[in-house]
Amino acid sequence: MILSIESSCDDSSIAVTRIADYKLLFHKKISQELEHSEYGGVVPELASRLHAEALPKILEEAKEFLPHIKAIAVTNEPGLSVTLMEGIMMAKALHIALQKPLIGVNHLVGHVYSLFIEKEAVLPKMVLLVSGGHTMILDVRGYKDLKVLATTLDDSFGESFDKVAKMMGLGYPGGPIIERLAQKGDPNRFDFPIPLRHSSKLAFSFSGLKNAVRLALEELDNLSEEDMADIAASFQKAAITHLLQKTSKACELYKPKDFAIVGGASANMALRKAFEKECAKRRISISFAPLEFCSDNAAMIGRAAVEAYKMRDFIDMEELRAVPRSCFV
Ligand code: KG4
Ligand code: ZN
Repeated sequence: MILSIESSCDDSSIAVTRIADYKLLFHKKISQELEHSEYGGVVPELASRLHAEALPKILEEAKEFLPHIKAIAVTNEPGLSVTLMEGIMMAKALHIALQKPLIGVNHLVGHVYSLFIEKEAVLPKMVLLVSGGHTMILDVRGYKDLKVLATTLDDSFGESFDKVAKMMGLGYPGGPIIERLAQKGDPNRFDFPIPLRHSSKLAFSFSGLKNAVRLALEELDNLSEEDMADIAASFQKAAITHLLQKTSKACELYKPKDFAIVGGASANMALRKAFEKECAKRRISISFAPLEFCSDNAAMIGRAAVEAYKMRDFIDMEELRAVPRSCFV
């Protein structure tokens, strides 16, 4: 079994995965969303203190598995350095106590493997990763064989939802709040610009769209419930259209047979529906991570770590460090 730890942002999570058949034997996550909500975003120092409290509590519940652990996996990149450190320190302590090897897992690779929890990996795939920290199109061929085909020039997809929610004073995380509001709104009331629609660049950008929302909000005097719903719906439509336009371009260039969407923001139903339609039109198969594994969790880190374990991709304790920004091209 592999014990995996995730603490790259605001979720403390530990999982135990059986190596032979990927079975998830234990999985628990304590989310800090409520604690960060009043600040409209994650406060790193608060997050790291909460991890320091939550991780030992979860580990206590996984105690019965410790004698069977063959390796300890931990997210070491990318993420907030102070929160990554909490997971890394626990992994190192377990490494010393259990005398088992360490595996450092890239959080983005973890999101990709959220597609294969308790399953065999089916690759190659073109993967759209939409989270709070990243918006990328990846060409995934294997655990150590990933290429970034497109990334964002500024904000990420999930982050733009968080910022729009913050502008309207609606709390954090903004994604689910905006999605819920959008269901009641008119997506055609505000004609927000689709980012980079006239550019041939295979890249994403959300800061211009976010500013367009800010201007629209400033022009409205007394923001009614209806105004907020219409802003949310019009913004969500523009953001999803942008993802669709650039992903379609990537499909024309790279001609994938299989496509998938992962990351916290892949829980968005409007996004899922829009891509299902587009993929059906293009005769490309589409898959998503199960809803419970879209946002950050240790199960996806454990699933990715099984691949690392099979390749004997271990890391020395001295070399295991938090890498806030990383690239695996
Ligand atoms: O993958 P994740 O849990 O953390 C990172 O690795 O960043 O993603 C969290 C992000 C947040 O920005 C959150 O607002 C966004 O995913 N998100 C959504 C939805 N649910 C979560 N964005 C749009 N629609 C949603 N339903
Ligand atoms: Zn994530």
